[in-house]
Amino acid sequence: MDIFKVRGGAPLQGEVRASGAKNATTKLLVASLLSDKKSVFHNVPDIGDVEVTVDLCKEIGAEIQWDRAAGIIEIQTKELKSSYIPQRFSGSNRIPILMIGALLGRTEEDIIVPTSGGCPIGTRPVDFHIEALRSLGATIEYRNMKQEGAYFAHAHSGLQGAIITLPFPSVGATENTILAAVRAKGTTVIKNAAIEPEVVDMILYLQKLGANIALDVDRTIRIQGTRKFFDVEHHIISDRIEAASFAMAAVGTKGRVFVKGADHLHMITFLNKMREIGAGFSIKNNGIEFYYDGPLQGGLHIETDVHPGFMTDWQQPFVALLTQSAGSSVIHETVYENRFGYTMMLKEMGADIELFKQCLGGRECRYAGQNFYHSVIVKGPTPLHGKSISIPDLRAGFAYVLAGLMSQEEMIISGIHFVKRGYEDLLGKLQNLGGQIEQTTLPGSASDTKRDKNLQPILAVI
Ligand code: EPZ
Repeated sequence: MDIFKVRGGAPLQGEVRASGAKNATTKLLVASLLSDKKSVFHNVPDIGDVEVTVDLCKEIGAEIQWDRAAGIIEIQTKELKSSYIPQRFSGSNRIPILMIGALLGRTEEDIIVPTSGGCPIGTRPVDFHIEALRSLGATIEYRNMKQEGAYFAHAHSGLQGAIITLPFPSVGATENTILAAVRAKGTTVIKNAAIEPEVVDMILYLQKLGANIALDVDRTIRIQGTRKFFDVEHHIISDRIEAASFAMAAVGTKGRVFVKGADHLHMITFLNKMREIGAGFSIKNNGIEFYYDGPLQGGLHIETDVHPGFMTDWQQPFVALLTQSAGSSVIHETVYENRFGYTMMLKEMGADIELFKQCLGGRECRYAGQNFYHSVIVKGPTPLHGKSISIPDLRAGFAYVLAGLMSQEEMIISGIHFVKRGYEDLLGKLQNLGGQIEQTTLPGSASDTKRDKNLQPILAVI
């Protein structure tokens, strides 16, 4: 088993490049399946989730050349080889479900997307996707199979544009609906759509591909169906989660780091919270420099939200940072009902964090009155003690690495494959900044690299 050994005390210093956005790249690869034209993507991050998505696309007939050093992928799917997503791609990742939207207009065959768990449609958290695709004319059934269930989808009578109002501005449901709408007849209007920068990057790509697509006022996206497509060259936006992660690491270690490629426009809400906490930053033409500017102040109220609100994916490392800030801060998670599980381990390290089921701090969210611990109060500063901990999911993983970099003791972190799926060369980047982090294999265990070769791909959390 591969682990990170992290020791704090060294301020991070220097320059780091924010890689291409994971949550844009994976979707753009899937979007390229809409046509038989060639797409060339630049700024592709070399991360596990892209690897898995590349395999997924190859499985159904895409020809792909990936120059990892240059960060370029060329992808073309002249013909679909299959529309069956093998079981090894199922899991809690949201990428396979997007295959339905991308392929519905391209094949007469059933599109089969297995999912673990076997819950019926309606209780699965892809219900918004399924309902929206049905509104466009897709027939989608959930069938129980031997090992697990699968969605069977087709549009034998063709897809027809429709007006769809999403119950919540879900990123994935918006993307799935857009993908299906591109090849549907007539016009599709998606109301209450997600407008995250990664969704907008998909819109920009699709316009280059030939789609007639508009982002209207008030979370409305309008797509006029087409069958005329073009070759595309596209530069993927930088990863605002990775950029924010390095920002927090710079400030949390009392250092100074220039995050090249950090995009001001996509980080406005994050920067306001960094200012409130007393962190320094300076916005340049080609990135943002973050620096420690004296003791950090708590007293913040953060509510995670859909864009342009404070991203849920910034929440976990920000909570780790708040453990080093003076005073009490309130964080209300409104996007996911159960995204504070990782705080148990921070508490064991010495953090003062209390969990609440109530909506703390202001408005009630859709989890009000339910049995979910979705608010916390963090009191700081508290010293963090070294521990041996296991990463439960990607962003919690970075929160733990950050906690290690801010601790004065050694921390052993396992489950590092989670961070490798979302952070390009995290180890190398932190080491270049002077971070005291190394990767090693626990004595008596197999290295993850060897083990991964024997394992079928399992997708990262969400
Ligand atoms: C995307 O997930 C991202 N993942 C997530 O990033 C991110 O946290 C999330 O958007 C919100 O910004 C990818 O892009 C691969 P949603 P997605 O549909 O599309 C509920 C990371 O670390 N919901 O906007 O799955 C859902 O349960 C990851 O990079 C339904 O109930 O997010 C959640 O509570 C983590 N039914 C909320 O909506 C549905 O049909 C938002 O989900 C769909 C969603």
